[in-house]
Order: sequence, then C-alpha cells, then structure tokens
Amino acid sequence: MAKILVLHGPNLNLLGQREPELYGHVTLDDINQGLMDQAQKAGHSCSCFQSNSEGALLDAIGATLKQPIDYIIINPAALTHTSIALRDALLAVAVPFIEVHLSNIYARETFRHHSYLDDIAHGVIGGFGSMSYQLAMTAVIEFLSRES
Ligand code: DQA
Repeated sequence: MAKILVLHGPNLNLLGQREPELYGHVTLDDINQGLMDQAQKAGHSCSCFQSNSEGALLDAIGATLKQPIDYIIINPAALTHTSIALRDALLAVAVPFIEVHLSNIYARETFRHHSYLDDIAHGVIGGFGSMSYQLAMTAVIEFLSRES
C-alpha cells in the first residue's frame, strides 16, 4: 500500500464558486473524495491538504521527510508561476510528483505559461477540469504498480 499526498494551493478552496467557466462547478471536497476513493480501490491511501498559505504548503512537503510519502499530486495554483520556495521544497524531499491544473495554463495569460515546477515534475496534466486530478491519480496508480 502506497501513500499518496494531494496538495492544493491558494484559492482552490473556492472551487465550485470560483470562475466556474474556467474551473468548473465541482467543489474541492468532491475532488478530494473522488481521489481518495480512486486510491483506496487501488489499495493505496490518500490524504489531501489545501492551503492559501505558501508556508503551510512548504511545511506539508517538508513533513514528508519524517512521515514518508510515495507520491505527491500537486496543483500549486498561482504559486506555480511564482514560487521558487515550492520548487526547492519538492527538490529537498525528492518525492516524485505530478503537477496538475484544472485549466490549460498555456491557453491563458502569458504570465501563466511559466511554471517553476514543470521541469522537475514526473509529469504535468492540465486542461481537463477536475478530470485532470483523476488522470493524475490514474497515472500514479499505474506508475506505482509498475514499480512494485
Ligand atoms: C490553476 C492555474 C493557475 O494559473 C491559477 O493561478 C490557479 C489554478 C489551475 O488549476 O488551472 O489558481 O492552477
């Protein structure tokens, strides 16, 4: 049984109400429940954490050194485009991760085209709304089954 950590960055607590034309109507609770069910069916455990604070996300990543995690799925939200600290934290713990976005960041404003994480991610999935997360979890489950 592997341990999967799902991290959500700033403003993703507002999903369902936040710019639904871009991010859809599904709430974060619904997304998390779906991911936990998907992981559980594959025999893995999954915990989910959202914060609007960069520091809290850094602490959650750093904590994986003491409480090991096999895989991280992260939607860094706006921190994707700004946070060298998030990049450094993910490099420090060296847990493989997938970067997820609900929207296709490359089809949006140019300031969203750059990610501080994409070149160190195992993969990047975006543009499929809440399905981006499901696709990421499917990839993680497949990857873990090939590894074992
Ligand atoms: C996002 C895209 C980011 O540019 C934005 O700041 C978000 C959400 C997405 O899931 O599409 O907050 O990460």
